[in-house]
Formats: sequence, C-alpha cells, structure tokens
Amino acid sequence: MTPEIRIRWIAKPLVFALCLGPLAWLLWQVFTLGLTPAGGLGANPIEAINRFLGDWALRFLLVTLAISPLSGVIGRPTPIRFRRMLGLFAFAYATLHISSYVGFDQRFDWGDIWGDIVKRNYITVGMATFLMLVPLAATSTKGMVRRLGGARWLKLHRLVYVAGITGVFHFTMMIKADLREPMAYAAVLALLLGYRVVRRKGRRRRTRKAPSG
Ligand code: HEM
Repeated sequence: MTPEIRIRWIAKPLVFALCLGPLAWLLWQVFTLGLTPAGGLGANPIEAINRFLGDWALRFLLVTLAISPLSGVIGRPTPIRFRRMLGLFAFAYATLHISSYVGFDQRFDWGDIWGDIVKRNYITVGMATFLMLVPLAATSTKGMVRRLGGARWLKLHRLVYVAGITGVFHFTMMIKADLREPMAYAAVLALLLGYRVVRRKGRRRRTRKAPSG
C-alpha cells in the first residue's frame, strides 16, 4: 500500500472520527444524563454546552494553524493533507457554538441577539471571528482554489491568522477573573505565529543571499 493510499483510506477516516469525538461526548452527556442540573453538564447545562463547543472551535482553529509549523519541524508534508479537514471542523464547531447561543441561550430572540452583538464587545469580536471563518470554509475546496487562483486564495486564507487572534481575544474578553486558560491559548497562538514570522524572515534572507543570474 502506497503512503498516499494509506492516508486516504486509513488515516483520514481515523482523523475524521477523532474530530467527531468531542461532539459525540457532548451528545452522549445530553442524551444519557439529560439537561437537568443533576446531569453530567453541571448546574448550567446550556452554558456548559455553549462553552464546550466554543472551546473546541478554538482548539481546532489552533490545531489547523499548527499544521504548517508541524510539517516544517518534521520535514514532511504529510500533516498538510489533514489541514482542510481540521479547518472545516473548526468552522463546524464554531457554527454549533453559535447555534447553541442563538437557539438554547437566546431562544431565537433576534432583537436580543442583535443587542448583544452591538453592545457586548466579546460577542462583537466572536461574530467578527465567525464572519472570517465563513469565506475560508466556503473556499476550502480544490475547485475554489482553482477558480480564485493560488495567489488570491493564499491571500484570502491569511485571514485564518486574524481569526486565530480574534478567537483568542473573544475568549479573553469574556473572562472576568481567572485568565489562565485564555492566556494558555494566547501563548500557543503566539508560538505558532512567531514560528511563521521567523520562517518568513529566514526565507527572505536566503532569497537575498542567493546569487542572481
Ligand atoms: C457570532 C459569533 C459568536 C457568538 C455570538 C459567541 C458567543 C459566545 C458566548 C455567549 C460565550 C459564553 C459566554 C459565557 O458563558 O459567559 C462564548 C464563549 C466562547 N466562545 Fe464564542 N461566540 C461566537 C463565536 C466564536 C468563535 C468563532 C469562536 C472560536 C473560533 C468562539 C470561541 C469561544 C470560546 C473559546 C469561548 C469560551 C468557552 C469557555 O468558557 O471555556 N466563539 N461565546
């Protein structure tokens, strides 16, 4: 079996199943233990569901951003083959996170939701983050890469860095006391973005040094 076939038939379905793990765990909690305070999700299950989905959206976003540095470190392009799937999972968990806020938390009260978006800064930033993820998900197919052209596609997909920053910011802004968890995400993000800056500088230096003609 060639490495290409192994990835397509074994590794990809396995990673896909692993990405569904957190959602499966959440559904298990909801359907076996219920949404009462005595269930597995604590005293405020609606808030717990929303936060759980937000956490996983951000984790998948950071894992997606980690793929390129990981490929660089191990010197192999293999992880790149999983990047689109991981990015789409970040989008899917973010969509579920927002849906839980709209449906469970706000009960589709669009007036209240709009009020939150314009008045509560962390919701405004969350909304901006989601709006950045939409074009990235919509242009994630090979057909869209071809249609946009590689250079334009790459330019658009740089939005993922901004979405990473605003996603961490959204989390940081909603926390009033213990900032340790959002700071841990911020540290991971700083490491991933720092790696890119250093790599880009190194590449520029090498291009300048390369003999011309
Ligand atoms: C329209 C867009 C969004 C809305 C309305 C929204 C709303 C919320 C709300 C209401 C909370 C919980 C606040 C609380 O319980 O006090 C929250 C938490 C959170 N959201 Fe969002 N969010 C949005 C987008 C996003 C996106 C795109 C991401 C990630 C990429 C994200 C990641 C998080 C995280 C990590 C938390 C904290 C979870 C925790 O406490 O552990 N959110 N968001």
